[in-house]
Amino acid sequence: MGWNPETYNKFREERQAPFTDLLKLINRRENISVIDLGCGTGELTSILADALPGSRVLGIDNSAEMLSKAAAFSNYDLQFEQEGITEITESGKKFDLIFSNAALQWLDDHEKLIPDLIRMLNDGGQLAAQVPANHNHFTHFALNELAASDSYNQIFKGWTRKVNVLDIDAYAQILFENGGRNIIVFEKIYPHMLKDADAVFEWMSGTALIRFLDRLPESMHENFKEDYKKIIRGNYTTGPVFYPFRRIIFSAVFSKL
Ligand SMILES: C[S@@+](CC[C@H](N)C(=O)[O-])C[C@H]1O[C@@H](n2cnc3c(N)ncnc32)[C@H](O)[C@@H]1O
Repeated sequence: MGWNPETYNKFREERQAPFTDLLKLINRRENISVIDLGCGTGELTSILADALPGSRVLGIDNSAEMLSKAAAFSNYDLQFEQEGITEITESGKKFDLIFSNAALQWLDDHEKLIPDLIRMLNDGGQLAAQVPANHNHFTHFALNELAASDSYNQIFKGWTRKVNVLDIDAYAQILFENGGRNIIVFEKIYPHMLKDADAVFEWMSGTALIRFLDRLPESMHENFKEDYKKIIRGNYTTGPVFYPFRRIIFSAVFSKL
């Protein structure tokens, strides 16, 4: 089980809104080197590249499935590589802009990760990232509860999905302590109207559900999905469903001055 670009793209418009907010924070400079961490299908990376003419943009992702869609966007200035975010922080490579939309939440220990990313910046470089912060929503609690239920606990053995995302105050503090200036950190609700409970399930299938399915034998995937769908249907009996999606956006510039 891995990322499925088709499922992920079902809510393309909703997923693009925070990217657009993040893009607005980027200092427009020419001829810079850029990395997009967890670039996924590359569609948004190509919009980023278009906004930075003459720059060399590298999109990295560790999912071959997602990257298979990215090849269509590649050109002389925009390249994609299959690589992990942790590995790239250890590579010694440097960039003028480190960008990441909806990917860093998959990595733990942000107290270490963010400084590691900052160390990858050239002097005067910018770090700009968006991470979902929806872990207190019913849909996430329901996944953990289902995993802990009698039907699945023998597999999950008490495992629950760890929340890697920090509070906005913590991101601001880390950026400051690591020499950041022009610090911008905010949390925003993106109000989504989903058609019905099944649409909520589809939304979750594109992201958080993956972590649970990854831990289950394939023979149990359908049962787990059906049980999860039933819980969501029980909670949202009519449509449309208002789904407030909380996200954190942060950016800062780092120079040796
Ligand atoms: C929610 S998608 C976001 C994709 C893209 N940035 C966008 O906004 O459409 C998260 C992406 O992060 C990638 N990812 C998760 N953990 C990763 C890691 N440790 N290294 C590289 N990519 C990772 C996944 O493969 C997936 O493509």
